[in-house]
Amino acid sequence: MKILVIGNGGREHAIVWKLAQDSRQPQIFCAPGNAGTAAIATNLSIGAEDVPAIVAWAKAEHPDLVVVGPEAPLCAGVTDALEAEGLKVFGPSQAAARLEGSKSFSKEVMEAAGVPTARFRVYTDSEKAIGGLDDFALPVVIKADGLAAGKGVVIAQTRAEAEQAIHEMLDEGRFGSAGAEVVIEEFLDGEEASVFALCDGEHVVLLPAAQDHKRVFDHDEGPNTGGMGAYTPAPIATHDVMVFTKEKIVLPVLQELRRRGIPYKGVLFCGLMIGKRGVNVLEFNCRFGDPETEVVVPSIASDFVPILMACAEGNLTDDLVSLRAEAATTIVMAAPGYPGSYPKGLEITGLEEAEATGCHVFHAGTAQKDGKIVTAGGRVLTVTAFGKDLRDAVGLAYEGVSKIHFEGAHYRKDIAAKAFKYL
Ligand code: AMP
Ligand code: GLY
Repeated sequence: MKILVIGNGGREHAIVWKLAQDSRQPQIFCAPGNAGTAAIATNLSIGAEDVPAIVAWAKAEHPDLVVVGPEAPLCAGVTDALEAEGLKVFGPSQAAARLEGSKSFSKEVMEAAGVPTARFRVYTDSEKAIGGLDDFALPVVIKADGLAAGKGVVIAQTRAEAEQAIHEMLDEGRFGSAGAEVVIEEFLDGEEASVFALCDGEHVVLLPAAQDHKRVFDHDEGPNTGGMGAYTPAPIATHDVMVFTKEKIVLPVLQELRRRGIPYKGVLFCGLMIGKRGVNVLEFNCRFGDPETEVVVPSIASDFVPILMACAEGNLTDDLVSLRAEAATTIVMAAPGYPGSYPKGLEITGLEEAEATGCHVFHAGTAQKDGKIVTAGGRVLTVTAFGKDLRDAVGLAYEGVSKIHFEGAHYRKDIAAKAFKYL
């Protein structure tokens, strides 16, 4: 059995790692992968966004399944192009991926499906948008409609900040065409959680909730990043929250999309805000989250291939997914300066020593150079550990981190601390 995984981050290393343990022992290819995937799969020199090259490779090699990691190729239609060649794909079609690719589409689908989300208005004209601010209290949230690499959301504390964000997006083209439309929405208070819903168009299986840590420094200070660590299960997402998420969020969205002739297959990432106003959807993503994947996917006890295949084929059932009983934590080790500019090519040591503690080291931004492993990105590695409970998992993950060295390595010291108050 041959499987192609598209992407090159910690998420994709975790996916490849899980696939490599499958009882089917698939032959795994990764486009383009990183130094971590190179050890357990064959890396291809094809960029994750090079849809024509991906399709050409797949036409020649006939993988049994293609698993798409990042949103960009999904929004560019890689699933449609591969399915047109008769291939099976884990990942939504271009039309379904608009749940992430267009925030106004996503909000409109939520509204039609009766899914709880922040009250919103959509604008393409800055004067009208600024007038529309009158309908919202401060702080107010301004979002660029399209993909903006996580930078298209402004939480404006003052009217002036809100007006500036609107001008930058609509008049100055700050995010190019991604910012040609803006969503203004009310600010929601509470705690965030990420829930991954496996979907086959109709049936849904939720994976255990995780919590990400978006700010670069401890105590949620400093600029936003792609995510500095995660843990699962997240106690904030109680059994009732999970039932609500499946029944009142995911199933109605899938039904609304089916009504429009757009079956949603793959993983629907529900970014939830849980607070005084109950459970609200902040955003949908059309892919697994990173670094949440590095704790959630290893928490799956059962084989991964049948789960992903069932999503692609439309026969997903609960019994395919069994879970490990332990808690998991992952700590991201970042390059000095991240999320600003950072050096590359720093030598990394201690990876084997970290694995010897029982941790799993997933590579996010690494490369091989002269027989050494060096940094090649902002988020460099993510170190995952399991424990009998969350405190145990956190302790073990930091023990793994302590073995790994590269110049200026930065990581947060308070991953999962937020959860301890519930335990
Ligand atoms: P998004 O890309 O829509 O998830 O937004 C990025 C981040 O902005 C989220 O993870 C939240 O931390 C924050 N955010 C987005 N929308 C809201 C909202 N309506 N209220 C409060 N925070 C929000
Ligand atoms: N960890 C958040 C994301 O993947 O978007």
